[in-house]
Amino acid sequence: MTKGKVDALLGIVFGDEGKGKVVDYFTPRYDLVARFAGGPNAGHTIIFDDKKFVLRSIPSGIFDEGKTNIIGNGCVIAPDLFMYEARELEVAGYEVVQRLHISRRAHLILPTHRVLDRAYEAAKGEGKVGTTGKGIGPTYSDKAARVGLRVGDIQGDFIPKYEALKARHLQILSDLGFTDFDITDEEKTWLEGIDYMRRFPLTDTEHEINQALAAGKNVLAEGAQGSLLDIDHGTYPFVSSSSTTVGGVCTGLGIAPQNIGRVWGIFKAYSTRVGSGPFPVELFDETGEEIRRVGKEFGAVTGRNRRCGWVDLVALKYAIMVNGVTDLVMMKADVLDSFKEIKVCVAYEKDGERTESMPYDTEGWAPVYETLPGWNCDLTGVRAEADFPKEYADYIAYLEKQLATPISILSVGPERDATIIR
Ligand code: GDP
Ligand code: IMO
Ligand code: MG
Repeated sequence: MTKGKVDALLGIVFGDEGKGKVVDYFTPRYDLVARFAGGPNAGHTIIFDDKKFVLRSIPSGIFDEGKTNIIGNGCVIAPDLFMYEARELEVAGYEVVQRLHISRRAHLILPTHRVLDRAYEAAKGEGKVGTTGKGIGPTYSDKAARVGLRVGDIQGDFIPKYEALKARHLQILSDLGFTDFDITDEEKTWLEGIDYMRRFPLTDTEHEINQALAAGKNVLAEGAQGSLLDIDHGTYPFVSSSSTTVGGVCTGLGIAPQNIGRVWGIFKAYSTRVGSGPFPVELFDETGEEIRRVGKEFGAVTGRNRRCGWVDLVALKYAIMVNGVTDLVMMKADVLDSFKEIKVCVAYEKDGERTESMPYDTEGWAPVYETLPGWNCDLTGVRAEADFPKEYADYIAYLEKQLATPISILSVGPERDATIIR
């Protein structure tokens, strides 16, 4: 029997590239869909049959009833938010409990982790990361400090462990002078969420995935966030706290690198970023405003404005390198339908120095652009390559040449069917 493969779909910029849409679209080709990193900081939008869902912790393969979805050991999970998310799907008529397996090694986000997130952000003042406020940083910090609570803990005598970690957090908050909060109601719902989670198969998902691979089954690993938010390879300290790049697929699911098949790198036909941190291609003018308006670039989780700019080849080349991207997926070109010209950042410049490779710190670097003609027509109905306007085909060919990687999937609208495979 030929062993199965794990293909990875990774956001390769600052998140919100359209991962949810593409995972949902790809799911019929796979046996299992697994999240390997992050938690409810993610917001993955899926639109089909006039329905819209925004998933946070649950993998985007959940709508296909024959498939197993996995929340892997590299993830962090907030029981209360998870309960809301899963119940919404149940109310919409989807059976989630049997389809969704949760790793016993995944870490739990406590209500006090969220308070700590706020406290640390407040302490940073101007230098704040602009986190989603979901307690991600403090939870991964506790994991690394070896004091975290895991999903498996809720199968034993959980409350004393919970109280001990909570007490530790309250002490830190008191030391920081951050005392103006009340988690009474939140804690009640959170404990309800713990009970709710007990209905799900809480398993050793690394065994499950490896057994599936041995039986010739294929797995789709769904990335969260984006490569430039990776704890090691992103624009530190303005990053999330997990490994969002391809290495995270191995550690976050418990699989070996030789099991990885294709690495799909997903990006938009322009750039966005939410939260603070350097963003050389950011546009502060009407063009940036227009991209935000047409692309509806407002956060799916926090509702914040996403910062917008042109595509950044320096960033894309770097992400392609660290992830070993085999295929690119380009989303949302339809948002640029009415632009006369489209710019592409081909290098950065600072103090007379020019670079095409990602600097240690991107702060203060200015973009160097090349300009291409826009297509000035409606792409949303286009499904066949033969119908591509010349300028769109040229834009694709230009990017493929610059990035030395094929763009195998194109998306020209938020719905499932607005997808073109080449
Ligand atoms: P994710 O976090 O990577 O899953 O992406 P988000 O869901 O946060 O953001 C992507 C947004 O773009 C969502 O609102 C999608 O519905 C929408 N979207 C996805 N693909 C396309 C596309 O090709 N064109 C347009 N106009 N919108 C898209
Ligand atoms: P998806 O999976 C966009 C950003 C936050 C902040 C930084 C750290 O939907 O693409 P955190 O709460 O993780 O500590 O915040 O990372 N961020 C995202 N930006 N998409 C996401 O997820 C993100 N998850 C985190 O805005 O700048
Ligand atoms: Mg998102």
